Amino acid sequence: MTVVDIGLPRRLVEFTLDGEQVAVPEGSTILSACKDMPTLCYGDTLEPANACRVCMVEVEGSRTLVPSCSRKVEPGMVVRTDTERTRHSRRMVLELLGSATDLSTTPQVAEWMAEVGADPTRFGPDAATVAQPAHVDNALYVRDYSKCILCYKCVDACGDQWQNTFAIAVAGRGFDSRISTEFSAPLPDSACVYCGNCIEVCPTGALSFRREYDKRAEGTWDESKQTATTTVCTFCGVGCNLTLHVQDNEIVKVTSPHDSSVTHGNLCIKGRFGWQHVQNT
Ligand code: SF4
Ligand code: SF4
Ligand code: FES
Repeated sequence: MTVVDIGLPRRLVEFTLDGEQVAVPEGSTILSACKDMPTLCYGDTLEPANACRVCMVEVEGSRTLVPSCSRKVEPGMVVRTDTERTRHSRRMVLELLGSATDLSTTPQVAEWMAEVGADPTRFGPDAATVAQPAHVDNALYVRDYSKCILCYKCVDACGDQWQNTFAIAVAGRGFDSRISTEFSAPLPDSACVYCGNCIEVCPTGALSFRREYDKRAEGTWDESKQTATTTVCTFCGVGCNLTLHVQDNEIVKVTSPHDSSVTHGNLCIKGRFGWQHVQNT
């Protein structure tokens, strides 16, 4: 018999969000009640990392702004998401991120910057950046750390939150902090098992499928032409859901639905990358 865990019923907690009375299940974050809140380090399959600070909101009685992605709602809380203070904070965070890193493949960030009037060029041409050549050291995926905002999501997905491989970690301190394999080894010489679960959670495109990287370089990557079809992996009996992204009759990447109770967005090397044989038949 299949046992379906439907969880305990949760009490509703009432609070005020931008002047409106809102009720959410006990234990929910402020973010869960917000519409269109910018987030970068938040991941729906990961514990909050509180690293990027783009989701900060005002909570009445709190001296500092609080991260909506991790702060749990309390009864009677009064929260404001769009004030001069939150806009100023968001503008500064986006300007600092945008001046140091390449956000050209980060979805929606240009929109968020326009909303708060962020201008990353205002620090001038000498602002320090993490610009560096991309690591193209294997056939499956590319690490372009000039796009890395150090959100820790890949480290958490590779480590104890999902994969338990611990192939990557944060090395260095301060501005020299970076994501690295052990001893900065090329990926094929590292502990990496090529599950691609780090690509799945990366919010900026710093980690990308090799096929996507090559097509972007050729100028042929076009998401408006892509379809997404969810199916079941046939490599083994686990039954992982695969979402095949197809452009011009070619599979260009494989993801997995985050709400799948089997995978929670995670896959192994076969499901994630083992589709080349489909193209070759
Ligand atoms: S592909 Fe998997 S094992 Fe390799 S670094 Fe990414 S999460 Fe870790
Ligand atoms: S590589 Fe991506 S997921 Fe990893 S820390 Fe950088 S931006 Fe975050
Ligand atoms: S999304 Fe909340 S701190 Fe990054």
